[in-house]
Amino acid sequence: MKKTWLVTGGAGFIGSNFICGLLKKRNDLHIINLDALTYAGNLENLREVEGCKSYTFIKGDICDRDLVSKIFKEYDIDTVINFAAESHVDRSIDGPAVFLKTNTEGTQVLLDAALRAWKKHPDDKYSKDFLPGKKFVQISTDEVYGALRDDSKDKFEENTPLAPNSPYSASKASADMMARAYFVTFGLPVNITRCTNNYGPKQYPEKLIPLMVKTALAGGKLPVYGDGLNVRDWIHVSDHCAAIELVAEKGVPGEIYNIGSNNEHANIEIVKDILSRTGRPESLIEYVKDRPGHDRRYAIDSSKIRRELGWSPAVDFKRGLADTIDWYISEEKRNVQ
Ligand SMILES: NC(=O)c1ccc[n+]([C@@H]2O[C@H](COP(=O)([O-])OP(=O)(O)OC[C@H]3O[C@@H](n4cnc5c(N)ncnc54)[C@H](O)[C@@H]3O)[C@@H](O)[C@H]2O)c1
Repeated sequence: MKKTWLVTGGAGFIGSNFICGLLKKRNDLHIINLDALTYAGNLENLREVEGCKSYTFIKGDICDRDLVSKIFKEYDIDTVINFAAESHVDRSIDGPAVFLKTNTEGTQVLLDAALRAWKKHPDDKYSKDFLPGKKFVQISTDEVYGALRDDSKDKFEENTPLAPNSPYSASKASADMMARAYFVTFGLPVNITRCTNNYGPKQYPEKLIPLMVKTALAGGKLPVYGDGLNVRDWIHVSDHCAAIELVAEKGVPGEIYNIGSNNEHANIEIVKDILSRTGRPESLIEYVKDRPGHDRRYAIDSSKIRRELGWSPAVDFKRGLADTIDWYISEEKRNVQ
């Protein structure tokens, strides 16, 4: 019998790559995608799995308690992968409330539904017995750790204290705390993953790579925050997805896993690469006032997931970035036609 995985936010960048990748290689899963289709959700991202018998799409909000509990009643959910989120830091500065609602409260709604559906003895508040084979994976971010100094060699480890600096990262850190509490208090089998910046196809064009490709192709000025030297640790989305699948299947309940692929690059390097691949001059770069609270550097120590679960990234950064830029160039040309 197939296992049923509830994937939330599956119409977004990482969720859609996760669902399409999984359904391409596995036939033992039924995936239910619960997505509210906000501005960032796009069913086009899931074109290749439309009509597939192992895939069900439900349009809805993870904050909707009635809907979420109905889904748990209707389907025997084995695994929850919670991608659904407001994910853009700039938007969280302009309007933090929806970040708290979706990222924190929405996570609590899902945790609660899983707790009620998966407990062996629902009326015994002290019992920590759960039905076998259940897992809740909370998709978090390295941004919950705050910022590193750019002159240090430090990296975030799983036990680095949380120090989120933006409303986005604060809402994600709050969700992590809630997930942790559901493990400690109720014994719910939870994992938290904290990944670095993802790149790859299907990202909404407000994030660095798709935004810069789009702007460069249009011949516009490329806005770069501050001095452009903010450093991010980049990972290809397919490597992130492979790590999440492994955590869902083999992660030890209650554990946190950092995911990263040791590719630290300053934003300006990425922007220059985009200009060179799109054949545009560097004179298009325009340095603009820095984002308030802009974290200087993120870098993650992912040795735990490599050592304990045997994960390692497969995509070479130079090749992956070139393919990604080319993908956005061809999408942009397709849209213009
Ligand atoms: N993009 C990255 O580099 C990165 C890195 C680390 C962690 N993450 C985390 O991974 C997850 C996915 O990120 P992404 O970049 O794919 O985001 P995204 O913005 O591309 O997609 C988010 C998806 O969630 C859906 N959604 C939003 N609010 C919802 C709600 N209330 N109910 C149901 N669905 C809702 C949207 O419609 C969209 O499809 C997020 O939790 C994010 O914090 C992202």
